[in-house]
Amino acid sequence: MTEILVANKSHVKYAETVCSLMYESALKRGTGIAKRSPEYIAKKMEEGKAIVAIDGDRLIGFSYIESWQHKRFVANSGLIVDPEYRNTGLARKIKRAIFDLSRRLYPDAKIFSITTGLAVMKLNSELGYVPVTFSELTDDDDFWKGCEGCRNYHILQENNRRMCLCTGMLYDPEKHKAATETENPEADRDVNAVREMIPEKVLSPKRIAQLRKNLRKIHLI
Ligand SMILES: CC(C)(COP(=O)(O)OP(=O)(O)OC[C@H]1O[C@@H](n2cnc3c(N)ncnc32)[C@H](O)[C@@H]1OP(=O)(O)O)[C@@H](O)C(=O)NCCC(=O)NCCS
Repeated sequence: MTEILVANKSHVKYAETVCSLMYESALKRGTGIAKRSPEYIAKKMEEGKAIVAIDGDRLIGFSYIESWQHKRFVANSGLIVDPEYRNTGLARKIKRAIFDLSRRLYPDAKIFSITTGLAVMKLNSELGYVPVTFSELTDDDDFWKGCEGCRNYHILQENNRRMCLCTGMLYDPEKHKAATETENPEADRDVNAVREMIPEKVLSPKRIAQLRKNLRKIHLI
């Protein structure tokens, strides 16, 4: 049975596996190899800033959180699914879990992503991210240093970091605030009941926000 969990120190034993999966996938895709050490991954696990997907005693998926510019920006990075478990909706579940965790740990931060991958673009859109120019993302040098291992890094540099082959995508909590402003526990309970019944793919954050808004109106009558 697959479990999707917030990581803790009991998962540190999987840090090497996470790095191997990332390394093998980068080799296959012909992209640059992101420099993430097992120690770095282990630290994210210990800090509870990562999601692990486990099947029995096997790690089958992972993603973690990084924050930038004094926690004003957050990125959900290092999404990886074991090749044997792909195309079964596992990335969608991990993305949802790391997104929810980011919202909980950094409720005011903008969440962003840069990617060339269609799967990630689709999943980001479902969560309420929209495409943006790089000017809307963090200007933290440490974030952009992470691109150094990419074979397209020279393009980023030639364009003074204004554009590259990746698409920038951003979730801005301010834009989603209106629908969640008023407290109403009954409406929230109903929303959670609906979330349990309907697949995540169908119930995007935008739809959840709309549903919550309508239920609040009903409960106020
Ligand atoms: C990308 C990755 C995480 C997808 O994992 P997955 O568990 O197979 O994805 P899911 O089954 O949850 O699929 C989610 C959606 O993406 C689509 N998708 C999955 N892989 C895809 C691919 N290679 N190309 C295009 N779309 C893809 C699925 O069809 C699905 O959309 P749909 O429900 O509308 O049909 C996985 O292939 C992987 O680990 N790749 C290597 C690492 C990587 O590229 N990470 C992203 C870095 S930005």
